[in-house]
Amino acid sequence: MGKDVIIACDFSSKEETLAFLDKFSGKKPYVKIGMELFYAEGPAIVREIKARGHKIFLDLKLHDIPNTVKKAMAVLSRLDVDMVNLHAAGTRAMMEGALEGVTRPDGTRPLVIAVTQLTSTSQERMQEELLIDQPMDKTVMHYADNAAKAGLDGVVCSPMEAGKVHATCGDGFVTVTPGIRFADGDKGDQVRVTTPAQAKEIGSDYIVVGRPITGAADPVEAYERCVREFVG
Ligand code: C5P
Repeated sequence: MGKDVIIACDFSSKEETLAFLDKFSGKKPYVKIGMELFYAEGPAIVREIKARGHKIFLDLKLHDIPNTVKKAMAVLSRLDVDMVNLHAAGTRAMMEGALEGVTRPDGTRPLVIAVTQLTSTSQERMQEELLIDQPMDKTVMHYADNAAKAGLDGVVCSPMEAGKVHATCGDGFVTVTPGIRFADGDKGDQVRVTTPAQAKEIGSDYIVVGRPITGAADPVEAYERCVREFVG
């Protein structure tokens, strides 16, 4: 599995996003497009960034009945994106539907990655509101195992969980890990963070980095520092 740094392009408009990517003259970093940008600009922003030669992780976290997710995934797959995701809580039937929908007529498809429990959900909220009585780490690993059994390619998780996910689901099961900060950087609202070098050490396959790059005085240098530390 090729290790790579994915930049979270958490911008609210096309203008801001393209101005940011223009700074990378000649370089084509892997980018993550989330709900905010996608809902603001629609599929056109995906086509435009793809036409510029970037790989794209379309982070829309689908969760609906299997048939709806299957059809929605078919639409996203036609945008020629490289990675999509969904909530493992939608059940194995939904994940299997997603895989069917996402597979293109020529047999190719983007990587399909599951979200287990959002990192914004505490164990207490999970127990009291979702009535899930198991510890958080057991729940996360169980969801990851469901995703693997459904045939998905991997999960989004904390870099701290990447080693355990590989131990549970196999080394080929991809771990995509946000919560990355430089050793000398600001943590912001992230709690459980690692540096790019630590994420490499634990075995993450892809790191997702937002503000440490988008908010840096020199975003290109910050990106290159991530690549140096994580890919080597
Ligand atoms: O700016 P920062 O590096 O914290 O950005 C991390 C990105 O990863 C954001 O787009 C955030 O929504 C996303 N993410 C996360 N934690 C998760 C899932 C996604 O930080 N569990």
